[in-house]
Amino acid sequence: MSRDAQCDPALHRSRRQRLLNALGEGVLLLPTATAAARNGDVQHEYRPGSDFHYLTGFPEPESVLVAWRINQRSHHSILFVRERDREREVWDGPRYGTRGVKTAFGVDEGRAIGDLSKNLIELVPLHGRLFHTLSADAALDQKLMAAFARARLRHRRTLLPAHPIICDPGPALAHERLTKDRAELVSLRKAAALTANGHMEAMRVTRPGMFEYEAQAALEATFRSGGSPRNGYQSIVASGPNACVLHYHENSRRMRSGDLLLIDAGAEVLGCTADVTRTFPVSGKFTEAQAAVYRVVLSAQAAGIRACKAGARWDSAHRACLRSLTKGLVDLGVLRGNVTRLVKQAAFKPWYMHGTSHWLGRDVHDVGGYQSMEGVVATLPVASVLTVEPGLYFGKRDKSVPEALRGIGIRIEDDVLVTKHGPEVLTQAAPKSIAAIERLMKR
Ligand code: GLY
Ligand code: MN
Repeated sequence: MSRDAQCDPALHRSRRQRLLNALGEGVLLLPTATAAARNGDVQHEYRPGSDFHYLTGFPEPESVLVAWRINQRSHHSILFVRERDREREVWDGPRYGTRGVKTAFGVDEGRAIGDLSKNLIELVPLHGRLFHTLSADAALDQKLMAAFARARLRHRRTLLPAHPIICDPGPALAHERLTKDRAELVSLRKAAALTANGHMEAMRVTRPGMFEYEAQAALEATFRSGGSPRNGYQSIVASGPNACVLHYHENSRRMRSGDLLLIDAGAEVLGCTADVTRTFPVSGKFTEAQAAVYRVVLSAQAAGIRACKAGARWDSAHRACLRSLTKGLVDLGVLRGNVTRLVKQAAFKPWYMHGTSHWLGRDVHDVGGYQSMEGVVATLPVASVLTVEPGLYFGKRDKSVPEALRGIGIRIEDDVLVTKHGPEVLTQAAPKSIAAIERLMKR
């Protein structure tokens, strides 16, 4: 069975009901992700669409959900899926088919995806509303336009409209997905635990002379053997100066004694991913200069995590980190002057050029608003998850910093669940104090 299949009819029914109640009267049309050809007969690895998987738990490509609300407590849902096909299943593995999808995933009806086009006019009312994100799936848009063209011809005498009002369900879906339910928290905790194990394994095996991809292999082997089908994003395994390339993923350099290794990687479990960064010395022991910078980033991160309180501005962690990092830059002799003024002037920018947090969940940079149309900053709801990931990056040729600091790039990142009782760090198991890292690497 696909490791992306989540057969929990009650869970997905309740997610669909919540969304449909939020959307109101109308029909939801939601495709999964499209499969992508790589070359010849080879496909890229398939991953179900995040919104679709959230609402159905169904893992197969070429699937579309159609659902509408009946009342506050009930709705009707149809999954259009690939039909059983003995010959294709010999090559690609078993399919649920129209009958299997109904029993295993608890939708009201399973229908053949090949019938979607001709079913659209029957299912999509010409008056009222259609919840569909135009431009997300070009093939489905085309089917819809063709159905509207047929309706326009058919209804030109009755003066019925050719199509309904089309509303984007994306914002409502993002709002639902921003706060994690119990099942998602189970997946996120598993992803976090596996990710911590992977980072620890990379720390255990890393030695001078190894290539970055060897550390990556150890890390990802731990993810895979723990049951994660894939990473939430491409692993960043960046040694020495590569750590200053924020999304480096060549992972091809041979590591040397004296280098730091920055690893930013997360395992995905049932559609949810962790996102963790650890930075450690390839030789197992921090140099004095590396330790000095590391302590600055670590205490900034601690300040950031403390700021993740329910109801606070979502960027409270960023603001706390900026202050702490700026103070650290003064202590390191990189900046001079009054810390408050330096923060206001964004004097940290040459060495800290990214944000501190993003929402985390099914997507590594998960859905969820950061501010309203009027510019009002979002606050942290209970059960939301965000990253706290400050860093400092001193380029190899950066003459504006003391020589000892050049070529040092450090980021420390954890995943924080906002609770009523304060921030809970889901990824705490990955060691991050200097003493804990050196102890682990010595063994
Ligand atoms: N883990 C990569 C990022 O947050 O951009
Ligand atoms: Mn991140």
